[in-house]
Amino acid sequence: MSESVTVRRLNAVEALAAVEGLADVLVDCVEGGASVSFMLPLARERAMDFWRGVAEGVERGERALLVAQDHGGRILGTVQLITAMPDNQPHRADVAKMLVHRSARRAGIAQALMAAIDDVARCEGKTVLVLDTVTGGDAERLYERAGWQRAGVVPKYALMPDGAFCATTFFYKHL
Ligand SMILES: CC(C)(COP(=O)(O)OP(=O)(O)OC[C@H]1O[C@@H](n2cnc3c(N)ncnc32)[C@H](O)[C@@H]1OP(=O)(O)O)[C@@H](O)C(=O)NCCC(=O)NCCS
Repeated sequence: MSESVTVRRLNAVEALAAVEGLADVLVDCVEGGASVSFMLPLARERAMDFWRGVAEGVERGERALLVAQDHGGRILGTVQLITAMPDNQPHRADVAKMLVHRSARRAGIAQALMAAIDDVARCEGKTVLVLDTVTGGDAERLYERAGWQRAGVVPKYALMPDGAFCATTFFYKHL
């Protein structure tokens, strides 16, 4: 990854201030065909509402939000660690919303975000991480390179932004 790109964890105030930049990345990914909870068309205001909710989750201590930024502060990518779990899973966390703007891909940003999320998870005392992703998508290779184990595939788990069914692969990682 270029030295001009930095990865950092945002506190709740910073997360709220970053809502517009995060919305730009989310809208770009959905418009690019990524299956990440949203359908097309995704209005910018709806995307901003989503990130405001994330900032509230950061404020409540339920999740950690990481961003990758260029030297000018523009957000190029993001990922989250959802740490709020049931009483019988205090050691587990979910990794969610790994997004890199199309203009910044294939430069190692996602790989850097995944390394950083492992560090955050260790700091939070988490030893089992879980995530899911579209079967056959670019992200599967990313997670395997980062040491994640493939647990299995659920056919027709979700929809692509255009409405087509897609299968989902579940991964886990023991830290
Ligand atoms: C999946 C995603 C996060 C990957 O982001 P990224 O920053 O491009 O990922 P990386 O740069 O770390 O790796 C991507 C590829 O670029 C390659 N790469 C990394 N640095 C490179 C460099 N300097 N030069 C050339 N290639 C490079 C990697 O080897 C990898 O190759 P692969 O396609 O064979 O797997 C991104 O495509 C994305 O946001 N997709 C849409 C959202 C999505 O599906 N997210 C997953 C939800 S679970």
